[in-house]
Amino acid sequence: MARVAVVTGGTRGIGAAISKALKEAGHKVAANYAGNDEAAAAFRDQTGIAVFKWDVGSYESCKEGLAKVEAELGPVDILVNNAGITRDAMFHKMTPDQWNAVINTNLNGLFNMTHPVWGGMRDRKFGRIVNISSINGQKGQAGQANYSAAKAGDIGFTKALAQEGARAGITVNVIAPGYIGTEMVRAIDEKVLNERILPLIPVGRLGEPEEIARCVLFLASDEAGFITGSTISANGGQYFV
Ligand code: CAA
Repeated sequence: MARVAVVTGGTRGIGAAISKALKEAGHKVAANYAGNDEAAAAFRDQTGIAVFKWDVGSYESCKEGLAKVEAELGPVDILVNNAGITRDAMFHKMTPDQWNAVINTNLNGLFNMTHPVWGGMRDRKFGRIVNISSINGQKGQAGQANYSAAKAGDIGFTKALAQEGARAGITVNVIAPGYIGTEMVRAIDEKVLNERILPLIPVGRLGEPEEIARCVLFLASDEAGFITGSTISANGGQYFV
């Protein structure tokens, strides 16, 4: 059945692949983005997917943005909390700003986006929420105390909410991608990536954004109603939970 889907950070990287996959599956998709107008316009022109600009770190902006999406496309059935940032630094060098920025986008963003659509999903007795965490929320990563904390929080959030949504037909699941070949990962110093990260991935390569999008598509489908509170690890065998 065609549904209305919102993908945060949905115009670039993993989010862009998710937006496209959901559209190809027949859903009406709203791709949210926070900053890069140029990339968002290019994405909209290439894909025909509607783009909406707001910061997932602000509850008021999420409420307003989601109201706009619902006015244009209809009630939100599928929410993919994908937006995320990094501010990597070893902890002794990490500033409060680096800590707060990552917690606000990568963890508070899930509250800010999910809370405004939760009531409607409960009323309509249907919802699919898919959160994008990270391997580094599962295993921890030196240089990412902020990111690992937020991404581990995303998993706890998912498990709690899955219990609350189950009776109302809402599933809440989380995907923990490993290192995927996006701008975020390619921003890592090449030497660090080649010498410290790639050798740890048994399949011997970075993942593709589409490999994460296919997981989202499965969890977001009407047929996945018995799967909730689960974590799908898609990391090339780098870490088994
Ligand atoms: N474990 C333990 N110690 C480590 C370490 C590790 N994994 N990595 C670095 N160190 C140590 C270094 O050996 C070094 O020690 P000495 O000073 O004693 O030699 C010290 O920490 C500083 O290391 P750097 O020279 O690398 O420090 P830097 O300040 O130049 O850079 C950094 C720090 C930016 C965090 C850099 O190490 C880095 O980019 N690391 C990769 C972090 C990472 O994996 N980020 C993932 C981004 S992608 C993503 O987040 C998507 C996702 O979900 C997977």
